[in-house]
Amino acid sequence: MKLLGIETSCDETAVAVVEDGTRILSNLISSQVDIHARYGGVVPEVASRQHLLAMLPLLRQSFSEASLSWEEITAVAVTNGPGLAGSLLVGVNTAKAISMARSLPLVAVNHLEGHIYANWLDKAKENLPEFPAICLIVSGGHSDIVLMIDHGNYRLLGRTRDDASGEAFDKAARILGLGYPGGPAIDRAARQGVPSVALPHAWLKGTDDFSFSGIKTALLRMMQSGSIASTADAASSFQEAVVDVLVAKTAEAAREHRVKQVLLAGGVASNTRLRQRIVEASPVPVLIPSPRLCTDNAAMIASAGYFRYIRGSRAGLDLDIVTGLSLA
Ligand code: KG4
Ligand code: ZN
Repeated sequence: MKLLGIETSCDETAVAVVEDGTRILSNLISSQVDIHARYGGVVPEVASRQHLLAMLPLLRQSFSEASLSWEEITAVAVTNGPGLAGSLLVGVNTAKAISMARSLPLVAVNHLEGHIYANWLDKAKENLPEFPAICLIVSGGHSDIVLMIDHGNYRLLGRTRDDASGEAFDKAARILGLGYPGGPAIDRAARQGVPSVALPHAWLKGTDDFSFSGIKTALLRMMQSGSIASTADAASSFQEAVVDVLVAKTAEAAREHRVKQVLLAGGVASNTRLRQRIVEASPVPVLIPSPRLCTDNAAMIASAGYFRYIRGSRAGLDLDIVTGLSLA
């Protein structure tokens, strides 16, 4: 069964076709990174306009590159939240138009659930995730620890109380003059340095919550006082401190809830150090999507949509966007 996936929650216009929730037939992304880089961050009005410009050419390209016809598609899955209102609207309205024109069922997908389902893509059957699992969702807008009991069954254990981890990477990169987007820039710079700068860790003991605003402020103060000599060392120290907390809390949650696996999800899951250290620290096997499937894409939306579709989930043409949609 082939599902079309559409994702426009932030600054990537993405279209994909996925078979049985696992096999990618087509996965296209039109990135707006270069446009937003000029402003040092995503400009919502610019993002929604770019989605409009990119959407139809991307849909055509997706079908032609994978030699697919509309008759082969069973349903359309679309992200309806969380995300930027103007951006989400383009995807949701495109999906509704397709659903109406082609008489195809519509499935609404939570963007965060999509990130988790990147772990189902391009995997051999014996390597698919097993339940229960602890999911660490780390993106530009979220840092959540979620207990996934079964398909579509989530318990939110912890979340960030201030900045998301990806947001912290982006802000730290700006402080260090490394440009936008900050995560990949810090990841690269850190390889040339050592974690020699002492930065605070917010452990928030006894909870599964995170806080990343203090470390960013500490970094800013150190830069302003001129006490940091090497940008590479500062990048490495920042990355190590964020990864310390993410890894320790995820491993602890995996032990406490006696899960079978840990699943990483979201843009920050493409971070080199996080990928290494979570595997070393976890008491159970860790699944991590390939880096290009960690950041926003539509294949993950088609996958999550498939598992929703086979459980009977359908959205009507009155489907609305929910900018603050939560997973559980
Ligand atoms: O999941 P995503 O593509 O979009 C959201 O849903 O937010 O995540 C984007 C975030 C950005 O903050 C970006 O800086 C971060 O993921 N990111 C990384 C890396 N690649 C992307 N953070 C750390 N290391 C990376 N290699
Ligand atoms: Zn995302």
